Amino acid sequence: MKLFIDTADINEIREANKIGVLDGVTTNPTLAARTGRDFKSVAAEILREVDGPVSLEVLSLDTAGMVREARETAKLGDNVVVKIPMTVDGLKAVRELDADDVKTNVTLVFSASQAVLAAKAGATYVSPFVGRLDDISEDGMALVEQIIRIYENYGYDSEVIVASIRNPMHFVKAALIGADVCTLPFSVIKQLSQHPLTDIGMARFLEDWKKVPK
Ligand code: E4P
Repeated sequence: MKLFIDTADINEIREANKIGVLDGVTTNPTLAARTGRDFKSVAAEILREVDGPVSLEVLSLDTAGMVREARETAKLGDNVVVKIPMTVDGLKAVRELDADDVKTNVTLVFSASQAVLAAKAGATYVSPFVGRLDDISEDGMALVEQIIRIYENYGYDSEVIVASIRNPMHFVKAALIGADVCTLPFSVIKQLSQHPLTDIGMARFLEDWKKVPK
């Protein structure tokens, strides 16, 4: 399973890159706003730092505007993936961009029917938002299972990015289900490596080492 970081913070991206587990980046307008910086320079920095796919979102609501923005955005680098919202206009844009070999990530997917349409339109990636479904007492990971089953049934090529991840169990369940990609906030990436028994074990080893005759 590929691991993307879900942030626009270049320091977090650099830190995650140093761990050596980073396969790509997803951003969105909320994450861009959190940086408090001009997004063009932020995007340029991210694209210099990361070789893997970097999702950058369009803000137009109509197909023509999305396609125009997407083509401009795609010029920023070979690894740019244009994030397109899951709307009818968005699907039309995905169809046009797919014909031009512009990679797309259909975002804000909350149902299996939306995921089927995105795949049929030619999306490179489809992003179901599991945490936001859990937040309203629905089962986000059940949606991911449905999408993967349907994509396997029909051999759709779109890769599933499990998005809106809140905790390490989302990551583990995504891996068990066989999702292609998980995109995680930096806080959750750090949590993946932690276990209290590892800390207790290390403390014990260091204490016992003091007793070894030197
Ligand atoms: C995915 O591409 C989105 O940027 C992200 O996962 C949204 O997560 P949130 O629900 O925590 O805002």
